[in-house]
Amino acid sequence: MSLSAKQGSIANRQMKLALFLTGDGNYHMAGWRMPGGHCDGGQNIHRWIAYAQMVERAKLDMLFIADGTGVTGSEDLETLSYTSRIDRMDPVTILSALSMMTSKLGLVATISTSYTEPFNVARAVASLDHISAGRAGWNIVTSGNKDDALHYNLDRHLPHADRYARAEEYVDVVRGLWDSYDDDAFPRNKTSGRYMDPKGVHFLNHRGKHFSVKGPSSVPRSPQGQPVLVQAGSSEAGMNLSARVADVVFTSQSQLKNGQAFYDNVKSRCDRYGRDPDSMKVMPGVLLIAGRTNEEAQDKFEELQSLIPLQVAMQRLSNNLGGVDLSKFDLDAPLPDIPVNSARVSAVESYVTISRRDGLTLRETAMRSAAAKHHWTLIGSVRQVCDQLEDWFTAGAADGFNILARNVPDGITDLTDKIVPELQRRGLFRTEYQGNTLRDHLGLQRPASRFAEKIALESETA
Ligand SMILES: Cc1cc2nc3c(=O)[nH]c(=O)nc-3n(C[C@H](O)[C@H](O)[C@H](O)COP(=O)(O)O)c2cc1C
Repeated sequence: MSLSAKQGSIANRQMKLALFLTGDGNYHMAGWRMPGGHCDGGQNIHRWIAYAQMVERAKLDMLFIADGTGVTGSEDLETLSYTSRIDRMDPVTILSALSMMTSKLGLVATISTSYTEPFNVARAVASLDHISAGRAGWNIVTSGNKDDALHYNLDRHLPHADRYARAEEYVDVVRGLWDSYDDDAFPRNKTSGRYMDPKGVHFLNHRGKHFSVKGPSSVPRSPQGQPVLVQAGSSEAGMNLSARVADVVFTSQSQLKNGQAFYDNVKSRCDRYGRDPDSMKVMPGVLLIAGRTNEEAQDKFEELQSLIPLQVAMQRLSNNLGGVDLSKFDLDAPLPDIPVNSARVSAVESYVTISRRDGLTLRETAMRSAAAKHHWTLIGSVRQVCDQLEDWFTAGAADGFNILARNVPDGITDLTDKIVPELQRRGLFRTEYQGNTLRDHLGLQRPASRFAEKIALESETA
């Protein structure tokens, strides 16, 4: 067995773990208010450096930055002024800085396909892959915030199906641009004076419905060949895109049986695209609170919940449901029927499922959303939390988890100081990195350039 195949099989038997951060780092709406916690991550890179180094010491696969480009909820500044959802630095810029202060940790940036051009994104992510020596990933989203459109010469968010049609073509353009150069296209031979080998350059010459891109890119083929692709959309269209292109699927599943169904569903689609389902890692989001005892963890959660203003919770729920006006509904009645809308598809379904399953009122659904949106909230002793993660992992509901830091830094130290050591003790998580790139951590091969494959095929048949 080759070294990389062996590394792959070891990596495949263990959980993948990511730390999910966004904005100031606090996922819970009241996280920023916790005594002694940090609340300046929206403008302070030193916080991010500290978090990245903490999770690298714990051998995590990656740091994952979620993002939306605009300020969600800005039409109600009074309510927004009680949240930490305003200031947010650009993910690729943050990760470029982090790459200089870490050496193993994977670095994944969320970038929308609806409000950017593929040429720019191909260049930025390939550059991050070079800067980080092979640790870059791109989380593909079509954007859930309908107001993001207003910053990009548009007067409305594109409909869901149109966003995904654009995303499908967009990803192909990016992948094509990443193969603009063969791996050995830059001899930089001082004696001959030849810097670049023209035979190793490939024009994309893409002409499609949404994009016209000639290429080549100006960034040489990067250390991972193709940086890691994450996909965060769980609708039918999202699952199809994942099955076709994603190395990692970020999803929100709040119950084991739904998690198993989603896992089977998305993996079963790989066959259509000739892909091995093992080459796609499904990683649900989890907001976890671990205590020495269950009571201690529950108390921490209650403390956080007690700090959420109701109007903040209602605003978050309304935004997560795609901007639905909830003001006309009775707070203490069950969540009303919410029509699936164009901004959000799987999120609406998830909220309705959680709310009906747990018999929640509108008020309770909003408070739940202020904690973890529609993600899984896992509260308990370290043993209980690890038991649950292990159950999901062994029962075919997850290949790993994207851990949402409820508040920083405590949400991170729960993971690094309590959960990871216990998972390591159980043999479920690595104690050392086996390789250097994000693909190594995920047990994924470095793909050959499509042109190298084509050339090999042509010379075989010649
Ligand atoms: C698990 C998950 C994570 C998401 N993360 C982001 C994000 O970071 N930024 C963003 O603009 N949209 C994000 N979205 C929203 C999607 O881009 C948007 O809702 C789109 O319609 C795809 O979701 P769907 O296929 O589930 O409908 C996320 C959606 C899901 C399901």
